[in-house]
Amino acid sequence: MKGLILSGGKGTRLRPITFTSAKQLIPIANKPVLFYGIEALRDAGIKDIGIVVGDTKEEVRRAVGDGSDWNVSITYIEQAEPAGLAHAVLVSQGYLKDEPFVMYLGDNLILGGIKELVKEFKEVSPNCHILLSRVQNPNQFGVAELQNGRVVRLVEKPRDPRSDLALVGVYMFDSHIFEAVKNIKPSWRNELEITDAIQYLIDKGYVVHPHMVKGWWKDTGRLDDLLEANKMVLDTLDTRIDGLVDDESKVDFKVVIEKDAEVTKSTIRGPAIIGKGSKIINSFIGPFTSIADRVTIKESEVEHSIVLEGSSIMNIKGRIGDSLIGRDVEVSKSPLKPKAYRFMLGDYSKVGVL
Ligand code: G1P
Repeated sequence: MKGLILSGGKGTRLRPITFTSAKQLIPIANKPVLFYGIEALRDAGIKDIGIVVGDTKEEVRRAVGDGSDWNVSITYIEQAEPAGLAHAVLVSQGYLKDEPFVMYLGDNLILGGIKELVKEFKEVSPNCHILLSRVQNPNQFGVAELQNGRVVRLVEKPRDPRSDLALVGVYMFDSHIFEAVKNIKPSWRNELEITDAIQYLIDKGYVVHPHMVKGWWKDTGRLDDLLEANKMVLDTLDTRIDGLVDDESKVDFKVVIEKDAEVTKSTIRGPAIIGKGSKIINSFIGPFTSIADRVTIKESEVEHSIVLEGSSIMNIKGRIGDSLIGRDVEVSKSPLKPKAYRFMLGDYSKVGVL
């Protein structure tokens, strides 16, 4: 069985971060979300993994390499344009050949992995295995309609959803999926939808087996979901202090402090992680916060947030919360007069002031 991870797409819902970075490389608890997918496939015994890449291919390649860090073999497959998930399957046919495969959307996260699901697929041996999860906002997903436990209809982002069962971004297929992706037409958003391809399988009488995901699952394509994913993953970490924490600081609950990080006169209330070489001075890092490498936080308070490499937050009076701060960003109190907010924000930035 092979793996196929989709790591293209534009990540429009996470702009401006995705103007300069692939959405699949945004870190959750200081590890790119894509790496969790690679680990999930590897832990399910899948060693041959194709990664479908688009505009951000160089960045993805640099981060993942040949897969030897995970003891898997990675093949990169280029998708010239983001023409849909079914189109990604189509361009991967040469790599996948006739083998069954797991397709894993690179921005999806399933706590607990997919080992049992792959085992079930091998045992039941359907043409397609889909994972479903109840959500509050089904119109933002592919939605499944079941009758007597069987899938009868799948609709991509329906305006009036007929159920609250969302398609999770992990699918298992045998080679009949190629027949399906070759026979469907682009959707209203001009994409070849995997949802339509699976509907084709249903219509042709192939076996599409639904599996309800009981554990926690998230598509990290939006800020709130990303922060929730960060929270869930941080909560699974064990305390590990490899950096320096001075006597005047307090480290509380599950906290990881990486090598060469320094915590001075500060409180770190876990679950939280502080990356390599970061400096936390006279500050409070609250629960559910990931501070990446080489970040400086001075005289400030941050909670329920993700701060990426090389950024600095200095002398901010109000607490920063529910935020995603990109790479090499400076947030500081302006020393200049007049006393005013001073911004230099990229396109599509979002700021909430007190
Ligand atoms: C895609 C699929 C959708 C699925 C979702 C899961 O949506 O098209 O059917 O429910 O992933 O993450 P997208 O995130 O591309 O809008």
